[in-house]
Amino acid sequence: MTTSAPRAAVIGWPIAQSRSPLIHGTWLKTLGLAGSYDRIALDPAGAVDWFARFADHGLVGANVTVPHKETAFAACADVEPAAAALGACNTLWLEGGRLRGTNTDTVGFLANLDERAPGWDAAAGPAVVLGAGGAARAIVWALARRGFSPIRIVNRTLARAEAIAPLGKPAVVTVHGYEDLPKVLADAAVLVNTTALGMAGKAELAIDLAGLPEAALVTDIVYVPLETALLAAARKRGNRTVDGLGMLLHQAVPGFERWFGVRPVVTEALRRVILEDLGVTA
Ligand code: ATR
Repeated sequence: MTTSAPRAAVIGWPIAQSRSPLIHGTWLKTLGLAGSYDRIALDPAGAVDWFARFADHGLVGANVTVPHKETAFAACADVEPAAAALGACNTLWLEGGRLRGTNTDTVGFLANLDERAPGWDAAAGPAVVLGAGGAARAIVWALARRGFSPIRIVNRTLARAEAIAPLGKPAVVTVHGYEDLPKVLADAAVLVNTTALGMAGKAELAIDLAGLPEAALVTDIVYVPLETALLAAARKRGNRTVDGLGMLLHQAVPGFERWFGVRPVVTEALRRVILEDLGVTA
């Protein structure tokens, strides 16, 4: 009997845009490991059944992206705390034939800042989070785990900010419209843009950073362009900035380690491979 090389994949709809195969493929190649990582386009109409039969697909595990993270979560026999809090899984693996899952957007966000702005959480004071979508959910939870408080969620639609506020427990969480920005930025330690505004092809995030302490860290989940207008404005006024590419790369680490047995490293060389594929100049 031959043992086949482990197969993993990213599951989404659509899926052509995913850079995950390039990230995992680069690690498999540089580490000299046998294994593969594909894209699987999964029509939402068949998603519940597909995840229920996960063990039949010949995969050791998978990444899951929009719109299937909640369906994947529901199919898991067991999930780690981040996934339990968010009700969404982006990373799956089989253990004794049972499907297990976690959500690595949270550690991806934190590991990126740990790597590129060491000490960023030393004075875990007030954090300001722009946006209240899927990415904001993971980031609010992650910031609270690192001890940031209060966490101020600023969103165009207040009801969406209110809906995610409980994820920030035990931090104090407040919700605001953009008109409150001058007030909430005045003593912020961290400012995070979790909206797609500022991404190439989308509207700019037109906010005024006046009053933000110079010691504050500013970070963006957008990585095309690598330096968004928000990050450029922050850098020019003396704030430390971290781009969003590292969150994408770091969120991939735990899955790769589970499926292929080696913990991969996020390197400058990997960043360059992905940037080149995105057509982004650093
Ligand atoms: P994701 O799950 O990828 O985070 P999403 O759920 O669509 O995406 O969330 C997008 C975020 O960008 C939301 O916070 C949204 O604000 P609303 O909740 O008010 O819709 C924010 N957003 C999108 N376009 C915006 C705009 N033109 N101005 C301000 N915020 C915007």
